[in-house]
Amino acid sequence: MVAEGVDKVLEKVEANGEAALERLFSLLRIASISTDAAYVDDCREAASWCANVLSEIGFEASVKPTSGQPMVVGHYRSSEPNARHVLFYGHYDVQPADPLELWRTPPFEPRLAEEPGNGTVILGRGASDDKGQLMTFVEACRAWREAAGDLPVSVTVLLEGEEESGSPSLGPFLDAHAEELKAELALVCDTGQARSDQPAITTMLRGLLDVEIVVKGPSRDLHSGMYGGPAVNPIRALAGVLAKLHDGDGRVQIPGFYDDVAEVPELQRAQWAHLGRDEADLLAKVGLSTPAGETGRSFLEQIWSRPTAEVNGIVGGYTGPGTKTVIPSEASAKLTFRLVPNQDPEKIRKDFQALVQTSLPADCTVTFKSRGGSPAVGFDIDAEYMRAAAAALETEWGKPAVMMGCGGSIPIVQSFKSVLGMDSLLVGFALDDDRIHSPNEKYNLESFRKGTRSWARILAKLAS
Ligand code: BES
Ligand code: MN
Ligand code: MN
Repeated sequence: MVAEGVDKVLEKVEANGEAALERLFSLLRIASISTDAAYVDDCREAASWCANVLSEIGFEASVKPTSGQPMVVGHYRSSEPNARHVLFYGHYDVQPADPLELWRTPPFEPRLAEEPGNGTVILGRGASDDKGQLMTFVEACRAWREAAGDLPVSVTVLLEGEEESGSPSLGPFLDAHAEELKAELALVCDTGQARSDQPAITTMLRGLLDVEIVVKGPSRDLHSGMYGGPAVNPIRALAGVLAKLHDGDGRVQIPGFYDDVAEVPELQRAQWAHLGRDEADLLAKVGLSTPAGETGRSFLEQIWSRPTAEVNGIVGGYTGPGTKTVIPSEASAKLTFRLVPNQDPEKIRKDFQALVQTSLPADCTVTFKSRGGSPAVGFDIDAEYMRAAAAALETEWGKPAVMMGCGGSIPIVQSFKSVLGMDSLLVGFALDDDRIHSPNEKYNLESFRKGTRSWARILAKLAS
């Protein structure tokens, strides 16, 4: 049934095209911004919307409350004998839309537009990250049900509503529902392709560690004429510490930072070098011309396989209109580290804190806040499920799947491994120019269509 069935399923995908787009549009109209308390109702609405759509295609679906945004869980049991069981993961929450004035059309009023090089694009917050992507899988399931009356594998769907705000409820939720969620393999659609004409499987994901530092100096803000010179300035102290974080070659100066970092196998590096992704061009697209990272390492190597330290924000003193001659009593900064396999977030956090402690001048005290980190993950590119997915993708796209890395982080993938003992297959159809997290986010209509077709084929291949 499975092998012959797939052509009919693909026909269904094509026939459903317009209705599928309508469904995606109605999800995109819901402003499910998880990080902002003003949007809790929208998050709830998006969760119910997802549960309803899953019920419609035969899943036993429910919205499950957490201490934060609710989770959506759906179950479908295939009637194929000895069917495999997979868990699909996506997130229905989105990033805030600001700065609003930079959107050419309102972020939660999705529409189609023509874009040179991309054809028809779906515009709207979440079009790519991750509503458009999660709907590729849901639409593939719908097409299977409509064409074959069944799914070729048993599927549990887990849709999260806090991915964009660091997944605070995820750990407790996975612990509490481990039995219900456990499957043989997790399928995740929240990554992208290196090129628009070639499919990709992401085989490593960077981890993330956040640290906030607050430096305190004088007991109150001081007049800079009366105290400037003798009094330590916390902004200057903080800036000094941050300036020491990298050397002239872009290497992070925390002692031992690179100790556990492995080099990517030559074969994989060679594959990346031949993707035709020109470094100068990648920089030029964002208004830059000179690489500022680790000397001697390519753009892709840096974002896919090297750890980094970035300052994401810095505040202190007077930033209002005009001048205020002040020495502030404190200054603070937020940093995140992107980690690669084998790096221990806890060790990096401690080593970073020690570096800060020893670098600050006398009379400065420092406090740290961290929500903790998620380590990086890497998967075996020779695993049976990887080969199956790669074959399905190659059939659909007419080109072999690139085994790529990923600059971003998806904390749940690590938890799937550590809590549920499950590997993940990361297949996504986002493109670098989708402007995720930025104004005018888009998803190519072709990504939506080919993504849906790809999942239809992957499900067939996993079953056979
Ligand atoms: N879908 C992205 C992760 C991603 C980014 C995959 C770029 C492929 C390319 C995800 O929604 C995301 O934005 N993750 C955050 C995680 C953070 C908020 C814990 C990230 O990477 O910053
Ligand atoms: Mn995402
Ligand atoms: Mn995101």
